[in-house]
Amino acid sequence: MAAAAAAAHLSLFPSLSPNPLKTPTRPRPLAAPANALECERGVEFETGGSFFRRESAVGRDLGVLSAAIHFRSLSPGDDGSGIRVLDAMCGCGVRSLRYLAQAGADFVWANDASEDCRPLILSNLARHPRFSPEGRRRWAVTHLDANRVLAENYLRREFFDLVDVDSFGSDSSYMRLAISTIRKGGLLYVTSTDGYSSGGHRPHCSLDSYGAYVRPMPFSNEVGLRMLIGGVLREAAALGYHILPLFSYYSYHGPVFRVMLKVNKGQLQDRSQYGFISYCHCCGNSQTFSWEEVGQISCTCRKGEVSKSIVVSGPLWTGPLHDAAHVTEMLLLATEWGWACTNKKEDDLEKLLKQMIEEGDPLLHPGYIKLDEIARRGKMNTPPLSTLINALQKKGYAASRSHIAHNAIKTNCPITKCIQFAYELRHIAGTANRGT
Ligand SMILES: C[S@@+](CC[C@H](N)C(=O)[O-])C[C@H]1O[C@@H](n2cnc3c(N)ncnc32)[C@H](O)[C@@H]1O
Repeated sequence: MAAAAAAAHLSLFPSLSPNPLKTPTRPRPLAAPANALECERGVEFETGGSFFRRESAVGRDLGVLSAAIHFRSLSPGDDGSGIRVLDAMCGCGVRSLRYLAQAGADFVWANDASEDCRPLILSNLARHPRFSPEGRRRWAVTHLDANRVLAENYLRREFFDLVDVDSFGSDSSYMRLAISTIRKGGLLYVTSTDGYSSGGHRPHCSLDSYGAYVRPMPFSNEVGLRMLIGGVLREAAALGYHILPLFSYYSYHGPVFRVMLKVNKGQLQDRSQYGFISYCHCCGNSQTFSWEEVGQISCTCRKGEVSKSIVVSGPLWTGPLHDAAHVTEMLLLATEWGWACTNKKEDDLEKLLKQMIEEGDPLLHPGYIKLDEIARRGKMNTPPLSTLINALQKKGYAASRSHIAHNAIKTNCPITKCIQFAYELRHIAGTANRGT
């Protein structure tokens, strides 16, 4: 099998070395029964013994929608190579298949370090024609370490419109090479599943992987997304590139943090979106600080004094989690394709995308405030989430729900004021009830 795979690989790409780097692969938990036939948005595939999670379908839907919008905006490549995707850790190949069948890719390179997956990936991709009517290859399968595939393509100057790296844990070793192999203005779709790092329980690990010292904070799942974006931003800056998050998606199973980034040449102009986030355990207030303010980090409740009640994480991405215009296009496309509202709670893309559009408001501060925290600190029953959001907006603050924490608000209003407004709303409701 190994020899056959290597031979197939060589016949496709004769310039590659005959000795593919063997990567020890991790034990693969099976979330679906072996050889299960799956169907995602009308695309059928088998999962065999590969690492596959049904729960990740939403992440795949989002990736396909975003890619389709990007691909539609492209003119055919100058070199005539068409729209190219690299699925660097493809598992059973479901994403590769969906980028071909649904997003409009002309060519997909499906790679997974595990050679055991080869027959499965080949049979899944065989559901799509291997050659275009003009005789151009539509897909290829290899079993190399992701870094090697990226490096070899970079050296051959063969670039991609989308690089998807669906990695485990806090692996970030591929980031620089992935950025290097992306065409101008192309997309990078990356994943982290390291909930310990985002939760602030392994600050040295988050520092190694993403360049961010992360401390425990009540909005750690948003910090996980900001840590991942900040990690790519740092690697991109070293290469003279900058990135823009198109969407950021947290899912509790795993947990999984996914971000789709647009990669462009040139240094980041607005450096104010890469800095530090503080949380004060004393009053619950959260703030952002620039690099210039490091050393002066305090909280208003501490009257500017250094205090152990304040924890700081960073540097992290502190800008918007999503590009609202792009997510609006995703919602339109999801509606056009009949993916938006399916009446099934677990894949209600309409609700998710609408929440992301709201969350994309650049006025919102990083983090979220859980109603439970307002209730605990204010020693009261809080008003309903929508009532509080409306009240904050009427008072001129930005406020929205969070797709990450369902009982939380995102706002630019300090928590002390949120507690005060919640009191007022309870008081108004109490007076109205007594009056009836
Ligand atoms: C999370 S799974 C991929 C799931 C797949 N993308 C999907 O949506 O169903 C990660 C895959 O990466 C592969 N892998 C792990 N380390 C790798 C590496 N260094 N290079 C290439 N593939 C790797 C594993 O064999 C595994 O199949």
